[in-house]
Amino acid sequence: MIFLKTIPGLIMRIDVFTLFPEMFAGPLSNSILRRAQNKGVVEIRLHNFRRFAKDRHHTVDDTPYGGGAGMVLKPEPIFEAVEHLKNTTGPFPLFYLSPKGKVFNQKIATEMSNLKRFALLCGRYEGVDQRVIDGLVDEEISIGDYVLSGGEPAAIVVIDAVVRLLKGALGDEKSSEDESFSSDLLEYPHYTKPREFRGMEVPEVLVSGNHKEIADFRKESSLKITLQNRPDMLKLKGEANG
Ligand code: ADE
Repeated sequence: MIFLKTIPGLIMRIDVFTLFPEMFAGPLSNSILRRAQNKGVVEIRLHNFRRFAKDRHHTVDDTPYGGGAGMVLKPEPIFEAVEHLKNTTGPFPLFYLSPKGKVFNQKIATEMSNLKRFALLCGRYEGVDQRVIDGLVDEEISIGDYVLSGGEPAAIVVIDAVVRLLKGALGDEKSSEDESFSSDLLEYPHYTKPREFRGMEVPEVLVSGNHKEIADFRKESSLKITLQNRPDMLKLKGEANG
């Protein structure tokens, strides 16, 4: 039995099962995700389950029973890859990225950020054999009501949204607190120097130094942008309270 080498201070481990590990190279090696890994906040491991396909051609998909278009990912390589990792490193919840999953949002990201460890399974083609979902998957997650060519971009979205919530991932500890979706409203607009740019001025109140007026302006701006772009967020809240 090989035990997980513990990295001092490591907050989370994420394992990703994918047929296209190269798709993660750019997103994982830049900006916040790169820094979080370098600082030992998170360890992200990629596993190509094609390695567990037993035949000469390393086949991972086959035609669907019952007929129809497209190919379905076979259960054996996925079961073997996941079980191998569980046997060598210990248990973990497995989330399958799929358009028919529960829609991912900030609440789910926050819940996932409290886990010590989880794994993501990326589908392709028409998806995975249902027995993978029934026998291995803890939860199906969708990142929105549209169909991607595979779960990889969705996994990157989930990893980014979760990792940036981990302590030590962002430079400024407070910077994830004021954002859209961390409250019930979308975020207020931001301005920086110069004070005037191509005739467009920074709102006077922001340079006034009056903290109460600034807070009121931001709250009102948040309400306006939420009403304009996401009236459903205000309606939901009203309905929940009333
Ligand atoms: N795979 C294909 N489409 C997807 C979606 N919308 N969310 C998560 N995984 C997917």
